[in-house]
Amino acid sequence: MLNGKKIVVTGCASGIGKEVARLIKEAGGYVLGVDLSVTDDYVDELYRADLSDPESIRDLIHVLPRGIDGLANVAGLPPTKPAAKVLAVNYVGLKALTVGLVPKMEDGASIVNVASLAGIGWPNMVSSILESESLAFEDIEQFVKTHDAGDAGGRSYFFSKEALIAWTLKNRWTWRDRGIRMNCVSPGPVVTPILQDFLETLGERAAQDAKIMDRPGTPEDIAPVVVFLLSDGSAWIRGTNIPVDGGMSSHIACESTGLSV
Ligand code: NAI
Repeated sequence: MLNGKKIVVTGCASGIGKEVARLIKEAGGYVLGVDLSVTDDYVDELYRADLSDPESIRDLIHVLPRGIDGLANVAGLPPTKPAAKVLAVNYVGLKALTVGLVPKMEDGASIVNVASLAGIGWPNMVSSILESESLAFEDIEQFVKTHDAGDAGGRSYFFSKEALIAWTLKNRWTWRDRGIRMNCVSPGPVVTPILQDFLETLGERAAQDAKIMDRPGTPEDIAPVVVFLLSDGSAWIRGTNIPVDGGMSSHIACESTGLSV
Protein backbone atom coordinates (compact mmCIF):
# COMPACT_ATOMS: atom_id res chain seq x y z
CA MET A 1 0.00 0.00 0.00
CA LEU A 2 2.94 2.37 0.69
CA ASN A 3 5.51 0.63 -1.50
CA GLY A 4 8.66 2.74 -1.78
CA LYS A 5 7.04 5.80 -0.18
CA LYS A 6 9.22 7.93 2.09
CA ILE A 7 7.21 9.01 5.12
CA VAL A 8 8.24 11.33 7.96
CA VAL A 9 6.74 10.22 11.29
CA THR A 10 7.06 12.53 14.30
CA GLY A 11 6.69 10.98 17.74
CA CYS A 12 7.96 7.67 16.32
CA ALA A 13 9.58 6.53 19.59
CA SER A 14 6.40 5.77 21.52
CA GLY A 15 2.67 5.02 21.49
CA ILE A 16 0.69 5.86 18.38
CA GLY A 17 3.70 7.17 16.41
CA LYS A 18 5.63 3.94 16.99
CA GLU A 19 2.69 1.86 15.75
CA VAL A 20 2.31 4.14 12.70
CA ALA A 21 6.01 3.61 11.91
CA ARG A 22 5.64 -0.15 12.31
CA LEU A 23 2.65 -0.29 9.94
CA ILE A 24 4.32 1.94 7.34
CA LYS A 25 7.24 -0.47 7.19
CA GLU A 26 4.87 -3.43 7.01
CA ALA A 27 3.15 -1.72 4.04
CA GLY A 28 6.47 -1.34 2.20
CA GLY A 29 7.25 2.27 3.10
CA TYR A 30 10.49 3.90 4.28
CA VAL A 31 10.32 5.66 7.67
CA LEU A 32 12.11 8.92 8.39
CA GLY A 33 11.48 8.98 12.15
CA VAL A 34 11.55 12.18 14.20
CA ASP A 35 11.55 12.28 18.00
CA LEU A 36 13.22 13.80 21.07
CA SER A 37 13.94 10.26 22.24
CA VAL A 38 16.17 7.72 20.58
CA THR A 39 14.65 4.56 19.11
CA ASP A 40 15.79 1.80 16.77
CA ASP A 41 12.31 0.37 16.32
CA TYR A 42 10.69 0.57 12.86
CA VAL A 43 12.71 3.56 11.60
CA ASP A 44 15.01 3.56 8.60
CA GLU A 45 16.55 6.90 9.56
CA LEU A 46 16.12 8.65 12.90
CA TYR A 47 16.26 12.44 13.23
CA ARG A 48 16.39 13.76 16.78
CA ALA A 49 14.63 17.10 17.12
CA ASP A 50 12.73 19.16 19.67
CA LEU A 51 9.48 20.24 18.07
CA SER A 52 8.98 22.97 20.69
CA ASP A 53 12.14 24.74 19.53
CA PRO A 54 12.10 26.80 16.31
CA GLU A 55 15.85 26.37 15.72
CA SER A 56 15.63 22.62 16.09
CA ILE A 57 12.72 22.58 13.62
CA ARG A 58 14.69 24.71 11.14
CA ASP A 59 17.67 22.32 11.40
CA LEU A 60 15.36 19.33 10.96
CA ILE A 61 13.79 20.78 7.80
CA HIS A 62 17.29 21.39 6.47
CA VAL A 63 18.60 17.85 7.08
CA LEU A 64 15.55 15.84 6.01
CA PRO A 65 15.89 14.60 2.42
CA ARG A 66 13.83 15.70 -0.58
CA GLY A 67 11.28 13.35 -2.12
CA ILE A 68 8.99 13.07 0.91
CA ASP A 69 5.70 11.29 0.07
CA GLY A 70 4.01 11.70 3.43
CA LEU A 71 4.21 13.40 6.81
CA ALA A 72 2.53 11.94 9.89
CA ASN A 73 2.49 14.57 12.63
CA VAL A 74 1.97 12.37 15.68
CA ALA A 75 4.27 13.85 18.37
CA GLY A 76 2.34 15.59 21.12
CA LEU A 77 2.43 16.56 24.78
CA PRO A 78 -0.37 15.92 27.30
CA PRO A 79 -2.15 18.61 29.38
CA THR A 80 0.00 17.93 32.48
CA LYS A 81 2.93 19.73 30.79
CA PRO A 82 3.29 23.55 30.92
CA ALA A 83 0.72 25.27 28.70
CA ALA A 84 3.17 27.12 26.46
CA LYS A 85 5.14 23.94 25.81
CA VAL A 86 1.96 22.04 24.93
CA LEU A 87 0.92 24.68 22.42
CA ALA A 88 4.45 24.86 21.00
CA VAL A 89 4.71 21.12 20.26
CA ASN A 90 1.08 20.25 19.42
CA TYR A 91 0.30 23.25 17.23
CA VAL A 92 2.90 25.95 16.52
CA GLY A 93 5.81 23.54 16.01
CA LEU A 94 3.67 21.11 14.02
CA LYS A 95 2.63 23.90 11.66
CA ALA A 96 6.21 25.19 11.29
CA LEU A 97 7.49 21.72 10.41
CA THR A 98 4.66 21.04 7.96
CA VAL A 99 4.87 24.33 6.08
CA GLY A 100 8.67 24.14 6.04
CA LEU A 101 8.66 20.61 4.60
CA VAL A 102 6.20 21.25 1.74
CA PRO A 103 9.01 22.25 -0.69
CA LYS A 104 10.70 18.90 0.03
CA MET A 105 7.51 16.93 -0.65
CA GLU A 106 6.64 15.10 -3.84
CA ASP A 107 3.54 16.17 -5.75
CA GLY A 108 0.61 14.13 -4.40
CA ALA A 109 2.09 13.85 -0.89
CA SER A 110 -0.22 13.32 2.09
CA ILE A 111 -0.01 15.09 5.45
CA VAL A 112 -1.79 13.50 8.43
CA ASN A 113 -2.12 15.31 11.76
CA VAL A 114 -3.03 13.43 14.93
CA ALA A 115 -5.45 15.74 16.74
CA SER A 116 -7.85 14.48 19.44
CA LEU A 117 -11.44 14.09 20.58
CA ALA A 118 -10.39 16.96 22.87
CA GLY A 119 -10.54 19.25 19.83
CA ILE A 120 -14.23 18.58 19.13
CA GLY A 121 -15.25 22.01 20.44
CA TRP A 122 -13.24 23.95 17.83
CA PRO A 123 -16.26 25.80 16.35
CA ASN A 124 -16.68 27.59 19.72
CA MET A 125 -13.10 28.84 19.64
CA VAL A 126 -12.89 30.32 16.16
CA SER A 127 -12.01 33.87 17.19
CA SER A 128 -9.04 32.72 19.32
CA ILE A 129 -8.05 30.26 16.62
CA LEU A 130 -7.97 33.04 14.03
CA GLU A 131 -5.81 35.12 16.37
CA SER A 132 -3.41 32.18 16.76
CA GLU A 133 -2.88 31.67 13.04
CA SER A 134 0.42 33.52 12.82
CA LEU A 135 1.42 32.96 16.45
CA ALA A 136 5.23 33.06 16.82
CA PHE A 137 7.06 30.82 19.31
CA GLU A 138 8.16 33.82 21.38
CA ASP A 139 4.53 35.00 21.80
CA ILE A 140 3.08 31.68 23.01
CA GLU A 141 3.62 32.40 26.75
CA GLN A 142 1.55 35.57 26.47
CA PHE A 143 -1.09 33.99 24.21
CA VAL A 144 -1.94 31.13 26.59
CA LYS A 145 -2.55 33.64 29.41
CA THR A 146 -5.02 35.69 27.42
CA HIS A 147 -6.90 33.16 25.27
CA ASP A 148 -8.42 30.37 27.38
CA ALA A 149 -5.47 28.19 26.47
CA GLY A 150 -3.63 27.99 29.80
CA ASP A 151 -2.94 25.22 32.32
CA ALA A 152 -6.34 25.36 34.08
CA GLY A 153 -8.56 22.41 33.16
CA GLY A 154 -6.08 21.26 30.54
CA ARG A 155 -7.18 24.10 28.25
CA SER A 156 -3.74 24.32 26.61
CA TYR A 157 -4.17 20.79 25.31
CA PHE A 158 -7.79 21.32 24.26
CA PHE A 159 -6.92 24.55 22.47
CA SER A 160 -3.91 22.99 20.72
CA LYS A 161 -6.14 20.30 19.26
CA GLU A 162 -9.06 22.65 18.48
CA ALA A 163 -6.69 24.91 16.56
CA LEU A 164 -5.07 21.94 14.81
CA ILE A 165 -8.40 20.61 13.53
CA ALA A 166 -9.42 24.09 12.34
CA TRP A 167 -6.05 24.59 10.62
CA THR A 168 -6.43 21.26 8.82
CA LEU A 169 -9.93 22.08 7.56
CA LYS A 170 -8.93 25.58 6.52
CA ASN A 171 -6.00 24.33 4.46
CA ARG A 172 -8.05 21.74 2.56
CA TRP A 173 -6.88 23.17 -0.82
CA THR A 174 -3.76 25.18 0.04
CA TRP A 175 -1.44 22.89 -1.91
CA ARG A 176 -4.03 21.57 -4.38
CA ASP A 177 -2.01 22.70 -7.41
CA ARG A 178 0.60 20.09 -6.39
CA GLY A 179 -1.91 17.47 -5.28
CA ILE A 180 -0.65 17.72 -1.69
CA ARG A 181 -3.45 17.14 0.79
CA MET A 182 -3.84 17.29 4.56
CA ASN A 183 -6.23 15.54 6.96
CA CYS A 184 -6.43 14.83 10.65
CA VAL A 185 -7.39 11.90 12.83
CA SER A 186 -8.96 12.48 16.25
CA PRO A 187 -8.50 9.60 18.68
CA GLY A 188 -10.50 9.17 21.88
CA PRO A 189 -8.58 7.95 24.97
CA VAL A 190 -5.80 5.56 23.90
CA VAL A 191 -3.68 3.31 26.11
CA THR A 192 -0.20 4.86 25.78
CA PRO A 193 2.24 6.33 28.34
CA ILE A 194 0.31 9.65 28.40
CA LEU A 195 -3.20 8.27 29.07
CA GLN A 196 -2.67 8.69 32.83
CA ASP A 197 -1.90 12.40 32.25
CA PHE A 198 -5.30 12.86 30.60
CA LEU A 199 -7.10 11.02 33.38
CA GLU A 200 -5.38 13.23 35.99
CA THR A 201 -6.34 16.42 34.20
CA LEU A 202 -9.92 15.50 33.35
CA GLY A 203 -10.76 13.84 36.68
CA GLU A 204 -14.49 13.15 37.09
CA ARG A 205 -15.21 13.80 33.41
CA ALA A 206 -12.77 11.07 32.34
CA ALA A 207 -14.37 8.67 34.81
CA GLN A 208 -17.80 9.38 33.29
CA ASP A 209 -16.48 8.92 29.74
CA ALA A 210 -14.89 5.62 30.76
CA LYS A 211 -18.31 4.36 31.92
CA ILE A 212 -19.88 5.22 28.55
CA MET A 213 -17.13 3.67 26.41
CA ASP A 214 -16.79 -0.08 26.00
CA ARG A 215 -12.99 0.19 26.30
CA PRO A 216 -10.19 2.69 25.68
CA GLY A 217 -8.47 2.61 22.30
CA THR A 218 -5.05 1.18 21.54
CA PRO A 219 -2.37 2.40 19.12
CA GLU A 220 -3.45 -0.51 16.89
CA ASP A 221 -6.93 1.09 16.60
CA ILE A 222 -5.53 4.45 15.48
CA ALA A 223 -2.48 3.73 13.30
CA PRO A 224 -4.28 1.91 10.43
CA VAL A 225 -6.42 4.99 9.83
CA VAL A 226 -3.32 7.21 9.71
CA VAL A 227 -1.68 4.80 7.26
CA PHE A 228 -4.79 4.73 5.05
CA LEU A 229 -4.76 8.54 4.92
CA LEU A 230 -1.08 8.41 3.91
CA SER A 231 -1.88 6.02 1.05
CA ASP A 232 -3.15 6.78 -2.47
CA GLY A 233 -6.41 4.95 -1.67
CA SER A 234 -7.54 8.02 0.25
CA ALA A 235 -6.56 10.52 -2.48
CA TRP A 236 -9.92 12.32 -2.52
CA ILE A 237 -10.13 12.72 1.27
CA ARG A 238 -8.96 16.26 1.87
CA GLY A 239 -9.08 18.69 4.75
CA THR A 240 -11.19 16.46 6.92
CA ASN A 241 -11.14 15.27 10.52
CA ILE A 242 -11.74 11.56 11.08
CA PRO A 243 -12.76 10.60 14.63
CA VAL A 244 -11.42 7.23 15.80
CA ASP A 245 -12.97 7.06 19.23
CA GLY A 246 -15.25 4.07 19.67
CA GLY A 247 -18.29 6.26 18.97
CA MET A 248 -17.60 9.01 21.54
CA SER A 249 -17.87 11.96 19.13
CA SER A 250 -21.17 10.61 17.77
CA HIS A 251 -22.38 10.18 21.33
CA ILE A 252 -21.50 13.80 22.13
CA ALA A 253 -23.26 15.00 18.96
CA CYS A 254 -26.40 12.98 19.76
CA GLU A 255 -26.52 14.15 23.37
CA SER A 256 -25.97 17.80 22.52
CA THR A 257 -28.58 17.91 19.75
CA GLY A 258 -31.32 15.85 21.37
CA LEU A 259 -30.92 12.98 18.88
CA SER A 260 -30.48 10.59 21.80
CA VAL A 261 -33.86 11.38 23.33
P1 NAI B 1 3.39 9.15 23.63
O1 NAI B 1 3.84 9.97 24.78
O2 NAI B 1 3.37 7.68 23.73
O3 NAI B 1 4.23 9.55 22.32
C1 NAI B 1 4.50 10.87 22.01
C2 NAI B 1 5.87 10.94 21.35
O4 NAI B 1 6.10 12.33 21.01
C3 NAI B 1 7.01 10.50 22.27
O5 NAI B 1 7.85 9.59 21.60
C4 NAI B 1 7.73 11.79 22.60
O6 NAI B 1 9.13 11.64 22.82
C5 NAI B 1 7.43 12.64 21.35
N1 NAI B 1 7.57 14.05 21.66
C6 NAI B 1 7.02 14.73 22.69
N2 NAI B 1 7.47 16.00 22.71
C7 NAI B 1 8.32 16.13 21.67
C8 NAI B 1 9.10 17.20 21.17
N3 NAI B 1 9.14 18.39 21.79
N4 NAI B 1 9.85 16.98 20.08
C9 NAI B 1 9.87 15.76 19.47
N5 NAI B 1 9.16 14.71 19.90
C10 NAI B 1 8.39 14.89 20.99
O7 NAI B 1 1.92 9.69 23.27
P2 NAI B 1 0.74 9.12 22.32
O8 NAI B 1 -0.39 8.80 23.20
O9 NAI B 1 1.27 8.14 21.38
O10 NAI B 1 0.34 10.46 21.57
C11 NAI B 1 0.56 10.67 20.19
C12 NAI B 1 -0.41 11.74 19.71
O11 NAI B 1 -1.74 11.29 19.91
C13 NAI B 1 -0.29 13.06 20.48
O12 NAI B 1 -0.39 14.13 19.56
C14 NAI B 1 -1.51 13.03 21.40
O13 NAI B 1 -1.96 14.32 21.72
C15 NAI B 1 -2.50 12.29 20.53
N6 NAI B 1 -3.59 11.68 21.28
C16 NAI B 1 -3.34 10.77 22.27
C17 NAI B 1 -4.39 10.24 22.99
C18 NAI B 1 -4.17 9.26 24.11
O14 NAI B 1 -5.12 9.02 24.87
N7 NAI B 1 -2.98 8.67 24.24
C19 NAI B 1 -5.78 10.64 22.71
C20 NAI B 1 -5.92 11.58 21.65
C21 NAI B 1 -4.86 12.07 20.96
